[in-house]
Amino acid sequence: MSPKALNNTNLFAPIQVGSNTLKHRITHMPTTRLRSTEQVPTDLQLQYYGDRAAYPGTLISVEATAISNKTANGYVPGIWSSRQTKAWKKIVDEVHKHDSFISSQLWAMGRASDPNYLKGNGAKFSAASAIYKDEDSKKAAEQAEWPLQEMTVEEIKEMIYTDFTNAAKNALEAGFDYIELHHGNGYLLEQFLYPVSNQRTDQYGGSIENRSRLFLELLDHLLTFVPASKIGIKMAPFMEEDGFLGVNESIHPIVTNGYLLSELQQRANKGQELAFVTMTDARTDILEKHPELASFDWIRSIWKGVIIRNGNYGYENGDYATLVKNLQDDDKTLAGFGRHFIANPDLVERLEKGYELNKYDRNFFYYGGNWSYNSYPKYGETVHFSQEDELKVVGKPLA
Ligand code: PHB
Repeated sequence: MSPKALNNTNLFAPIQVGSNTLKHRITHMPTTRLRSTEQVPTDLQLQYYGDRAAYPGTLISVEATAISNKTANGYVPGIWSSRQTKAWKKIVDEVHKHDSFISSQLWAMGRASDPNYLKGNGAKFSAASAIYKDEDSKKAAEQAEWPLQEMTVEEIKEMIYTDFTNAAKNALEAGFDYIELHHGNGYLLEQFLYPVSNQRTDQYGGSIENRSRLFLELLDHLLTFVPASKIGIKMAPFMEEDGFLGVNESIHPIVTNGYLLSELQQRANKGQELAFVTMTDARTDILEKHPELASFDWIRSIWKGVIIRNGNYGYENGDYATLVKNLQDDDKTLAGFGRHFIANPDLVERLEKGYELNKYDRNFFYYGGNWSYNSYPKYGETVHFSQEDELKVVGKPLA
């Protein structure tokens, strides 16, 4: 049986996000693909994002992008230098050429950074508290003789008022339609939120308000020069990896994330509604144990704005039943795709028309080269790439 054409579903109902109207609700989610060179976006990324933006009115959220070389690793792109900003601008311009939209996910890695890389930059390996995410990270820090340290208040202020501010200004200069603050997946902003990774005794630790203070201070500062309609936040409340406990936290993540959502809604009520909240569903193994987490009712009873639901959306025998239902049930929801967008440059058209999908190859998600990056054909196209050759391609920095 061929897959269901989704053209008559809510997936293809236009939606207002901030001050833009998207033509449909299929959104490219950030995926870490390691195709930058010298932490600068490359020609490979230009083609990759350009192809995926070719269906007009698509929202492309590009990979997580480091705000500075003080909280990152050496493999991901950044947006702290003018060189990186110029390179990103070329990708932004390409996406805009297709009348599509593009979002930059601003990223501070904190304890998930690479201590060797930081040491090489003379930057402290620091996080909310000096609590390693796992044994491997501890070992790497010990070997590098660069131990994890608790950020001082001065360093927190510097991160907000210098590093995030610089990155946000660069993203605006490059022309991004949105900036999304990466408050998920165990990275720095989220490390502040949970007791397991934040045991500070100052104004940034202790109560829920204190553990949320860094994020809200950052947001309120950005709102002084970025319109709310251009800002999003990524949240992933149920992760049980990288030293996070998910629903086993001492305070249930619905409580902590609910508090943050409530703060966002209060700002919306006063005229500063963020463009979107990206909400990652619990992974399928967690959902099996806690099926009640599949419901977003708790979110909807607090946050009234746009949600980008990152919902493990699959093919489901070609009827995409969960995807169609989620979007039918909530008129302000967009659907995020990672894996299927990797393998299908023309994913939007394939879903619209009910074409079969190319299969993704997980082995090459985190890899260099052009194999399994720009080597997936559009529907009906016959292209033959040599795996051996494409694996050797090195992306050329765009600036
Ligand atoms: C990753 O590099 O594996 C990664 C980065 C950002 C995320 C999730 C995973 O949000």
